[in-house]
Amino acid sequence: MSSSHTDISIRPAVDADLGALLALERASFTTDHLSLRQYRQHLHSATATVLAAVDADGLLGKAVVFYRQGSDIARLYSIAVAERARGRGIAKSLLAAVETAAHQRDCSRLRLEVRKDNAAAIALYERLGFQRFGEKHGFYEDGADAWRYQKVIG
Ligand SMILES: CC(C)(COP(=O)(O)OP(=O)(O)OC[C@H]1O[C@@H](n2cnc3c(N)ncnc32)[C@H](O)[C@@H]1OP(=O)(O)O)[C@@H](O)C(=O)NCCC(=O)NCCS
Repeated sequence: MSSSHTDISIRPAVDADLGALLALERASFTTDHLSLRQYRQHLHSATATVLAAVDADGLLGKAVVFYRQGSDIARLYSIAVAERARGRGIAKSLLAAVETAAHQRDCSRLRLEVRKDNAAAIALYERLGFQRFGEKHGFYEDGADAWRYQKVIG
């Protein structure tokens, strides 16, 4: 799977991306970081998809999706775009690729959690048609609450 967005392409992440994935993870989130070990595991897992948005200079964004056997619900666990590359539609392209990947896995819904104080991410999800359907108290490591969103895909 590969798609173009001007000079940016979106493709499955590989081991050679691990260093850049970790750096983006640390720069993008203050809590709930995925570790190197977890990333390495997810890259090779049958129940995960890790997508990378790259240009000639390297990694600009990433998305991590999990699947569960016997469930048609895919879960967007994480999405981030490097600060220097924000506002150019990269998250939008990543989410479109996530939907395609989840659809190919016979999933009919995509779900996610987002911090209630993350206005940019909430705006992104609502703009792309996700609907709020619940909340999780104390969902994050620092005790912050999450909204739950879902989108019917396919
Ligand atoms: C949230 C994040 C992934 C958005 O990435 P991005 O590539 O800048 O987003 P896009 O350019 O694709 O934006 C798509 C839409 O999302 C919304 N959006 C994105 N950033 C926004 C912001 N800062 N304020 C308001 N709306 C925003 C807009 O509706 C935008 O569409 P528009 O430009 O046509 O109005 C990015 O800010 C990020 O990595 N943040 C840190 C990590 C994070 O919070 N991840 C989400 C965890 S749940």
